[in-house]
Amino acid sequence: MIEIAPSVLAADLLHLEQDVRRVLDAGADLLHVDIMDAHFVPNLSYGPDMCAALRRGFPDVQQDVHLMMTNPEDYLEAFVKAGADAITIHEELGHKALPALRRIREMGLMAGISVKPGTPAQRLTPLLPLCDLVLIMTVEPGFGGQQMKGEALDKAKMLRAQGYAGIISADGGITPDNAPQAISRGVNRLVMGTALFKADDAAQAIRRARAAAQP
Ligand code: DX5
Ligand code: ZN
Repeated sequence: MIEIAPSVLAADLLHLEQDVRRVLDAGADLLHVDIMDAHFVPNLSYGPDMCAALRRGFPDVQQDVHLMMTNPEDYLEAFVKAGADAITIHEELGHKALPALRRIREMGLMAGISVKPGTPAQRLTPLLPLCDLVLIMTVEPGFGGQQMKGEALDKAKMLRAQGYAGIISADGGITPDNAPQAISRGVNRLVMGTALFKADDAAQAIRRARAAAQP
């Protein structure tokens, strides 16, 4: 089963509720919420209030919160309170990653670890026992609408070869056309921003993205 996680970053902020409802009605499974602190990445998005608003509007929809932050440990409680179901932090935080993952699980959420395109998959190995999901960045994090870096997907293949059976997401520039590339390497959750919110027909985009997984 391939899950489709629309990246709210690509939604129309002025018509957020109707835009998110549109992609959920089109068949998306959960929401991917990108939090950027203008330090870990050169862009600023929004904070826990976005999760709280989405929780109010879509009480039953899972929120997968991707923290592109230098100090995520200071905000974990706030995101839990706001309604996050899963929190993903970055491996590039170094020694801070492991305690943060532990804390996320202690609070009863799913914990995720993300790697930028240039970070080798081997760096994930010590963290995997503490993770429920791995988020492979297929663009340099910070902005939506970029082109997918296909080489990054080899990390999914390596993780599957090592026997990792959890969720592997691909995030950045994923489209219905390149989804088969991701799925064939073992990705089972596709984060899609631009290719979904800007599609003329979101339901068709989702069907096409999932199609590669059909026998
Ligand atoms: C990039 C974000 C992605 C991005 C995906 O820093 O983590 O989630 O918004 O959007 P698209 O699909 O437009 O690349
Ligand atoms: Zn993301």
